[in-house]
Amino acid sequence: MALLEVENLKTRFRTDDGVVTAVDGVSFTLEKGETLGIVGESGSGKSVTCLTIMGLNDPRNTVSEGAARLDGVDLLTTDPESLRALRGMRIAMIFQDPMTSLNPVKKIGWQLEEAVLVHRDVSRKESRALAIDAMKSVRIPRAEQRIDDYPHQFSGGMRQRVMIAMALINEPDIVIADEPTTALDVTTQAQILDLMNELQREREMAIIMITHDLGVVAEVADEVIVMYGGQVAEHASVDDIFYRPRHPYTWGLLGSLPRLDLEVERLEQIPGQPPSLLNPPSGCRFHPRCTFAMDICRTEVPQLLPFGEGLHLQRCWLDDATKERESARTVAGLQQEAS
Ligand SMILES: Nc1ncnc2c1ncn2[C@@H]1O[C@H](COP(=O)(O)OP(=O)(O)OP(=O)(O)O)[C@@H](O)[C@H]1O
Ligand SMILES: [Mg+2]
Repeated sequence: MALLEVENLKTRFRTDDGVVTAVDGVSFTLEKGETLGIVGESGSGKSVTCLTIMGLNDPRNTVSEGAARLDGVDLLTTDPESLRALRGMRIAMIFQDPMTSLNPVKKIGWQLEEAVLVHRDVSRKESRALAIDAMKSVRIPRAEQRIDDYPHQFSGGMRQRVMIAMALINEPDIVIADEPTTALDVTTQAQILDLMNELQREREMAIIMITHDLGVVAEVADEVIVMYGGQVAEHASVDDIFYRPRHPYTWGLLGSLPRLDLEVERLEQIPGQPPSLLNPPSGCRFHPRCTFAMDICRTEVPQLLPFGEGLHLQRCWLDDATKERESARTVAGLQQEAS
């Protein structure tokens, strides 16, 4: 049994304009010590997938289906008390925006201590010591003094470290990191990724890393899910995504990688808009933006199917020969640029 099994996850929001299907049939498994990268444009359902797994959507306007089993316990259907016990303790999340998830009127140290005291029967002295250790583990300098500071006294990078410390303080088995480094400068980004890698090795922690940045994915992920319009477009090992990508959307994402070798950074976005999740396009959701679209793509929904041996799933009507040819062309283009 995998550590986490996500099966046919669906999340719908009721809005004034109608029902938004933000997540539409996402499945994956996560093993101990593994890192899964989730990439895709803004609005593709990355955050909602993870918020659904964590049980953090607003129940008043949200309906979820499917399952997310942590060691066999379905987080979607388990009782609220068990969920609270697992959340933060076995599975924790680093949120996209650190300012919204830190309480501005509480000292940093106390917020870390609360995260411990919710789950563990320890004294205040022990919880304070754990808070200081957690701050040190994410390399916050002068942790003993800074523990009594408020969030606004910390820089963006330091606040992000506090968020990571808070997620890691109970040594969870799984950490979901939602764009943990986007707001940070490149040096701090690299430091934080190194740190998470190190903690992962020490603790065999599994990580779900949500990011826009394919460079980050290349660096940290074992497996990658490419999301498009609330669905999985492609799911494969990191090597297959970068060397044998089989979906036109993935080709587009790879083609829009910034070129570090040029003085002017090229960011060639995929033309067109992401699909509406209120009224998704018929057939393949990517067809309106796909240069390879055929008639069938406009009418029939492609299923997520294996390509070749091993784990490599993709949702595209193109024939295998075309996929291999275009995949090779994309990869050759990248390598040419890199040389
Ligand atoms: N509470 C909500 N009510 C209604 N719609 C929502 C709600 N939360 C998210 N959505 C919609 O669900 C879709 C998926 O959102 P999600 O936040 O998962 O995107 P994302 O892939 O994380 O994007 P980003 O890269 O910008 O963070 C979007 O169209 C968003 O507008
Ligand atoms: Mg998001």
